[in-house]
Amino acid sequence: MRTFSDRALSIQPTGVRKMFDLAGDDTISFGLGEPDFQPPKVAIDAFHQAMLDGHNKYTTTAGLPALREQIAQSWNFYQEGLDQSNVCITMSGTNALLNLFLTLVNPGENVLLPEPYFPLYGPDVTICGGEDRYYPCKFENEFIPKIEDLEELIDENTVAILYNFPSNPTGGTLTDAQRDSLLDFARRHDLWIISDEVYDRIVFDGKHVSFMGVDYDKVLIVNSFSKTFAMTGWRIGYIISTNTEAMSQIIKMQYYITACSNDAMQYAVLAAMEKASDYPDLIAKEFKERCDLIVDRLNEMPGVECHKPKGAIYVFPKVNVKGMNSEEVALELLKDGVLCSPGSAFGPSGEGHLRFAYTISKEDISRGMDKVEATLKRLNGL
Ligand SMILES: Cc1ncc(COP(=O)(O)O)c(C=O)c1O
Repeated sequence: MRTFSDRALSIQPTGVRKMFDLAGDDTISFGLGEPDFQPPKVAIDAFHQAMLDGHNKYTTTAGLPALREQIAQSWNFYQEGLDQSNVCITMSGTNALLNLFLTLVNPGENVLLPEPYFPLYGPDVTICGGEDRYYPCKFENEFIPKIEDLEELIDENTVAILYNFPSNPTGGTLTDAQRDSLLDFARRHDLWIISDEVYDRIVFDGKHVSFMGVDYDKVLIVNSFSKTFAMTGWRIGYIISTNTEAMSQIIKMQYYITACSNDAMQYAVLAAMEKASDYPDLIAKEFKERCDLIVDRLNEMPGVECHKPKGAIYVFPKVNVKGMNSEEVALELLKDGVLCSPGSAFGPSGEGHLRFAYTISKEDISRGMDKVEATLKRLNGL
């Protein structure tokens, strides 16, 4: 019997949320990729004021000109000459990603995606009728893909490659040389680059390596205020590109997805950018301290090996417990009061890993790590 569209039936609910439903009130949660801070107060005040001032209407589809211009200026560090025509405001990074796949992918075409992955990419490509093809980002290569692995996947129907650095879930970041070889790969095969850079300001050695400013005009950058300004609930993101022809297709598509973004909220984000521009650096400093703490603790535990990420808000250690898969280990941890995500929720090569989001205080990280240590000792019979 014909019920729902093949599109709806072909996608599955995300595995990442599965553990949440099982968590108790006093569980220490390393589960959510959501900064535990509030947005800058100037932004909250500006939001109130904007509503009082009557900014409760539709905006133009691409967003408030002043916000688009401000965003363009903030990228001039990487690429001179950007202006508002290079920016489309979206209702989150999530919305930006769907827009790009809808704009770029025909049924029957394929997109190369990282694995382990942010679990939205594949279903987005499926929704567009495309094929999701995964390139490995291996632990032994510090989660950076190898060009030979990319070459093996490509065929005449490959239209785009998605890069995500700093990465969710691995925390992997690029050097300039690595970025250049990934760029060269895309250029040789004439692929669109979708670069998901939502963690661009949460980097620990001061430098984000971007695909903006490279000598290639098929680069589309996804960004969001969710992580860098702790505004996950505000749902504002954007697409930025030097390719103005692509931008006009993207803006056209955006109209049919959501007409425009929230009016007052865009004023609030503008205030954050203008008056609290150092906020992302302040939270990045705190995340670095937490990262150091959690990595040091994890590496002292039996059967655990953890790289020290240079960005984002996650660690993705290998956790080896004989006879148990990552979901079983995560369930044991949950019984002992710690919530984390099984690596398998981020793709098959995530098996054998756990993802910990260090989006809780250092005190809670320490308490949580005491519990993880005790559980792993118990499971390993130590
Ligand atoms: C890599 C990555 N991209 C995009 C997003 C989407 O962020 P948002 O939709 O909140 O802007 C997330 C959120 O977790 C993410 O981790």
